[in-house]
Amino acid sequence: MSLILDPAAQDLLFREARTANAFTDEPVTDEQVQAIYDLVKYGPTAFNQSPLRVTLVRSAEARERLVRHMSEGNRPKTATAPLAAILSADNEFHEELPHLLPHAPQVKDAFFSERPVREGAATLNASLQAAYFIVGVRAAGLAAGPMTGVDFEGVRKEFLDDDHTPLMVVNIGRPGPDAWFPRSPRLAYDQVVTTV
Ligand SMILES: Cc1cc2nc3c(=O)[nH]c(=O)nc-3n(C[C@H](O)[C@H](O)[C@H](O)COP(=O)(O)O)c2cc1C
Repeated sequence: MSLILDPAAQDLLFREARTANAFTDEPVTDEQVQAIYDLVKYGPTAFNQSPLRVTLVRSAEARERLVRHMSEGNRPKTATAPLAAILSADNEFHEELPHLLPHAPQVKDAFFSERPVREGAATLNASLQAAYFIVGVRAAGLAAGPMTGVDFEGVRKEFLDDDHTPLMVVNIGRPGPDAWFPRSPRLAYDQVVTTV
């Protein structure tokens, strides 16, 4: 056995975990989201820059505004999920760097004084954090439905500002009946891994 993580946890996080397209009515509480964040915040980012920002879309009014910016096929599930979250990258993450990287405060100006550089770094590292977030949702016993079928410019204008780049919308809840299609195949190890 090469993996030391408990097999039940492996199932919960990966083998049995699915992308849900339908949910029960059971609410997702702020306490659950906080527990998820307080776990996944430890996932690594470059220079510990931590650019992920999360906007919880809870009110019926805000949910309606979000659904308008979803692609047709994503609308019903986003309208009915117990919780929808907009995951975005903060392109001004460098302002927090002296706090986040106390042993190397010079990094803020040495590496991130230019906005295009920050945007590239923020998109990569917030996307990594989005993946940690999805796995964290699973660790809470919930299912995530990440979506990029989104009018991102519309979402940015509606919910964010020019300093934030929306990356995906994630529906969160307990999977309901008919929550998923049959599991699709994955690439095999030999198709993906080469050794030089
Ligand atoms: C970044 C990302 C974007 C996705 N966008 C959509 C989407 O817009 N609409 C949708 O129905 N599914 C979307 N999906 C779901 C994927 O199709 C699904 O996660 C994948 O097929 C694996 O499904 P499984 O977890 O059930 O095995 C997205 C998934 C990810 C990770």
